[in-house]
Amino acid sequence: MKNFTFESPTKIIFGKNRIHDLAAEILAYGNRVLMVYGGQSIQQNGLYTQITEHLKENDISVFELAGVQPNPRLESVRAGIELCKTYEVDFILAVGGGSVIDCSKAIAAGVTYSGDVWDFFIRKAKIENALPIGSVLTLAATGSEMNGGTVISNPETSEKRPAGSDLLKPKFSILDPTLTFTVNKYLTSAGVVDVMSHIFEQYFTPDQGTTLQDHIAEAILKTCIQYGPVLMDDPENYEARSNIMWASSLALNGLTVTGKMYGDWATHYIEHELSAYYDLTHGAGLAILFPVWMNYVLDEKRAFKFAAYARNVWGVTIENDMEAALEGIAKTKAFFKEIGMPASLGEANIDDSKFDSMVEGACKFGPIGMFRKLNKEDVKNILTSAL
Ligand code: NZQ
Ligand code: ZN
Repeated sequence: MKNFTFESPTKIIFGKNRIHDLAAEILAYGNRVLMVYGGQSIQQNGLYTQITEHLKENDISVFELAGVQPNPRLESVRAGIELCKTYEVDFILAVGGGSVIDCSKAIAAGVTYSGDVWDFFIRKAKIENALPIGSVLTLAATGSEMNGGTVISNPETSEKRPAGSDLLKPKFSILDPTLTFTVNKYLTSAGVVDVMSHIFEQYFTPDQGTTLQDHIAEAILKTCIQYGPVLMDDPENYEARSNIMWASSLALNGLTVTGKMYGDWATHYIEHELSAYYDLTHGAGLAILFPVWMNYVLDEKRAFKFAAYARNVWGVTIENDMEAALEGIAKTKAFFKEIGMPASLGEANIDDSKFDSMVEGACKFGPIGMFRKLNKEDVKNILTSAL
């Protein structure tokens, strides 16, 4: 296990009706708030009214950035930065899923920066200052509610790129599992796949001796496998929603990568190309790509890790590592299919016409991956196998 420093400063306020705590948390930072949200979902389930009334009662001035889209656009970030400057906002409140939280983080980073906010995403500038943000999470998936990452799409250049800083970690996140009752089956499944994928990215690494972290990772995977299917038939199952919600945060708050060098993240880089070119739901893209990536990087040297995954997560009892590994990968693929995710690019209406551009985009800063480094040819092979 390598040396590490683990600091997870986001206060998690978990459970039913915790929205009542919102104003008190915000007032620790200011009383002029930019509330960022997406489309209609928070109007339809009454959350919009509940929050705005609660903030008004507590003398908090609320300015709004509405309409943040899934795969959030640079345009929304720029609009949010302008609003913050115009109204001298001192706190940003994200109400939504990963897209809304990511957009809020990018706004927070951009407000105090004199250049163009996109600079952070093309590695031209480092985030050195940010407004404080908090979130009310409405969709369990990305872990953005408890980490410093943000992923923004720039349709003008067909790019979707990540940026990050500890400064962007939310000060608090309210996790009320009942707020996710209205998430439809497809997005619920995509969220489950995203949570599992974050674990995969940090589990399949060359590091050794991180037994505790790997067992925590396996427990999170088993939780997703237990409760994902429950939600297909029973979307208001509180136990299932609460377990998946907490899994979402723990899967990407740095916990399971402690003592390791870094995650793999190649599959995420490739998926971001799919979302950038086809506006695909992130978790659906991962469901297509992850089993393909697993099969592609599997070899004699790496089989032991896939075999451990197969045995500890799926209960595979095959003794031979390679055979156990293949069985674990097959079970992964079948599970994603069972919860309604596409199994191939074809099923998502994606052909090979943009592969060359996607390969260039994924490898813009060099080869990707850590468990096994992937060059452009590898990325193309993976995309082709996913057809
Ligand atoms: O816009 P509204 O009407 O709110 O509908 C949203 C949206 O259409 C809907 N939704 C959210 N909460 C709901 C709900 N519908 C009904 N009831 C509710 N309670 O869900 C749709 C998708 O929302 P989105 O925020 O896009 O989903 P998700 O949380 O999966 O976020 C995906 C984005 O996060 C990025 C992805 O790449 C993608 O852009 N990621 C961010 C990461 C991070 N910051 O750490 C890591 C991830 O790997 C990922 O890359
Ligand atoms: Zn993800």
